[in-house]
Amino acid sequence: MKTTIAEVHKHVNETVTIGAWLHNKRSSGKIAFLQLRDGTGFIQGVVVKSVVGENLFEQAKHLGQESSLYVTGEIVKDERSPLGFEMQVSGYEIIQEAEDYPITPKEHGTEFLMDHRHLWLRSKKQHAIMKIRNEIIRSTFEFFNDNGYVKIDPPILTGASAEGTTELFHTKYFDEDAYLSQSGQLYLEAAAMALGKVFSFGPTFRAEKSKTRRHLIEFWMIEPEMAFMDHDDSLVVQENYVEHIVQSVLKNCDIELDTLERDKEQLKKIKAPFPRITYDEAIEFLKKEGFDDIDWGDDFGAPHETAIAEAHDQPVFITHFPTEIKAFYMQPDPNNEKVALCADLIAPEGYGEIIGGSERIHDYELMKQRYKEHGLEGPAYEWYLELRKYGSVPHSGFGLGLERTVAWISGTEHIRETIPFPRLLNRLYP
Ligand code: 4AD
Ligand code: MG
Repeated sequence: MKTTIAEVHKHVNETVTIGAWLHNKRSSGKIAFLQLRDGTGFIQGVVVKSVVGENLFEQAKHLGQESSLYVTGEIVKDERSPLGFEMQVSGYEIIQEAEDYPITPKEHGTEFLMDHRHLWLRSKKQHAIMKIRNEIIRSTFEFFNDNGYVKIDPPILTGASAEGTTELFHTKYFDEDAYLSQSGQLYLEAAAMALGKVFSFGPTFRAEKSKTRRHLIEFWMIEPEMAFMDHDDSLVVQENYVEHIVQSVLKNCDIELDTLERDKEQLKKIKAPFPRITYDEAIEFLKKEGFDDIDWGDDFGAPHETAIAEAHDQPVFITHFPTEIKAFYMQPDPNNEKVALCADLIAPEGYGEIIGGSERIHDYELMKQRYKEHGLEGPAYEWYLELRKYGSVPHSGFGLGLERTVAWISGTEHIRETIPFPRLLNRLYP
């Protein structure tokens, strides 16, 4: 009977066949241990010479890494393995024999691995990161579907910029100019006025000349947008959502977290509500900590975010940033027009900003004034202004960067390993 590694627990003491790749192997005189992987997991196959015969045994000892096989054998309990089971191999059939697989169990440099990303994805660590990424996506859909949100797909090709004009990817759209979407937000605001609570999950693009461990050129964002919700209401959604995805990964990705040697105690602590500090308090804190390179009106860099994060063991909201360093659409604080009703959520352990969000301006005249200040004149922005004309209501939303969130939850140092095929400043291959 054919099965998968993820399903072997249903076949204890039964003989099954698994389609698999040879991940690694070792052998001694009469016994060979094959580390097998099939995409759903990893299992050890034990090949004993007296069971499979001289020929198969010798062949097993010399099989190349990543050879593809159908392996047949009995599933037995094995408490020492992470899976809890191993296979007593009774026979196998080679599908394709691989030779000279470039990624061997020895250490390789990062550039080499990145050049072989199409193969590197097969490694145990990369496999674990992709499984955690998938669990975050799965639990994201679960959270928003369970809370009455409608999934909306904003366009990728756009005529307007959502997050400033300096980081836009330009392309021709027949005779017009178009840009790859930096954020679906403006379209989601339109959708929220039609459907109340909406969310999107899609690729976004930033032609950013940043070469840091937190920046991708192409990344995936989850963007909820809610009619009749103010800034404070939005923070509650954000902390409940982040708690949900962290707890879902803990529940459903135990093997993967162990593979990555992630400190699970850090994750177990992640429970709403999260602390909130204002931008003013953050500046004051940083000055006290000895940062003399930051003043009111400056944006935070990675070292600042890390210092703030280290003072908390939960993700922390920094709220009320100066209006002048934030996007044109943010609602000013009625008590202090110099700051916006917005927040960035900073992940613990130095992973930086994972969410940016705000209440949106819903007053027609104020939005018109912002258009002037930001030079947003032109037909591409007309429709967005028009939303403020017909039954405009207070509304809020936010964007969670998937890859930064995967990096944090999986404990992966660099964002390039959190997406199957990263697009980086110097990399479009593979
Ligand atoms: O803070 P940002 O730029 O916010 C927006 O785009 C809003 N329009 C979202 C909204 O309110 N609907 O980006 C949101 C998040 C960041 O907090 C970060 O996690 C991620 O997107 N992000 C990046 N991730 C990887 N590489 C980059 N270059 C990123 N830029 C932003
Ligand atoms: Mg931001």
